[in-house]
Amino acid sequence: MIQRYENLEAVSQAAAELFAARANVAVRDRGRFSVALAGGNTPRRAYELLAQKPLCDSVPWSQVHVFWGDERCVPPVDPRSNYRMAREAFLDRIPLLDSQIHPMRGVGDPDEAALEYERELRQFFADGQPRFDLVLLGMGDNAHTASLFPGLPVLEERTRWVSAVYIVELQMHRLTLTAPAINQAATVAFLVAGADKAQPLKEVLQGPRDPQRLPAQLVQPVDGELLWLVDKTAAARL
Ligand code: 6PG
Repeated sequence: MIQRYENLEAVSQAAAELFAARANVAVRDRGRFSVALAGGNTPRRAYELLAQKPLCDSVPWSQVHVFWGDERCVPPVDPRSNYRMAREAFLDRIPLLDSQIHPMRGVGDPDEAALEYERELRQFFADGQPRFDLVLLGMGDNAHTASLFPGLPVLEERTRWVSAVYIVELQMHRLTLTAPAINQAATVAFLVAGADKAQPLKEVLQGPRDPQRLPAQLVQPVDGELLWLVDKTAAARL
C-alpha cells in the first residue's frame, strides 16, 4: 500500500508512529518486538522522533529488540556506519540494554560477520523463520534496498538470511539481510523521499518485474504487509 505524505518530516512522523504502533501490538501479543532498521539518511528523522516525547513514552522499550537490515563494513564509530547513525539518532537516548541491540559486525572478515549475524538471528528466531515484526527499508536511486544492489548474486539467494556483498560502485563491503529474510517479516515499510527517487519508484511499483535491475521489487512479504511511505516528490511520477 502506498501512503503519500507532504514531505520527509511527514514521512518520518508516520514511520515513527508505525514503529510505536507495531511495537505495542507485538509486545501485547508476543511479549517482544523485533525491528530491523534501515540505514542511509532517510530514516534518521523518524529515529529522532522515536527518542522525543510523545512517541518515546509510547514504546514498550524494555521488550524491544533492534536489528539492522544492512551495515557498511566499517568500524562502529565510522560516520558511514548505520549502527552509529541509529545510536546518534535515538538508541543512545532511550532505555535499551546492550542485550536488546543487535548490530551487525562491521569490522573483520565480512563473510564471517554475515555467518555470525545469521547465527544470532537463528538463535533469536528459534522457531526457524526470521519473522521480524517490522523491517524498515530505504531505496536508493538505483532501486537497491538494504544492500541488495542491482546485478549482485545475492539477489538470487533463496536460503541464507544474511550475506556479505561487495559493492563495486561504492568500493565497499557490506552485510545485508537477504530477500528471503526480509520477506518473512510481518510488516515491511519502505521510507522513500526526494525527487531523485521518483523515477526508480515508478519503475519499481509500476514497471515490469525486473528484480536484477530493480532489487526493491524482491520485497514481497510472504505473509505480511508491505507499506510504502513516500513523500510527494518521490511519488511525483506515480
Ligand atoms: C544503506 C541503506 C540503503 C539506503 C538507500 C537509501 O545502508 O545505505 O540500507 O539501502 O536505504 O541507499 O539511502 P538514503 O535514505 O540515504 O537515500
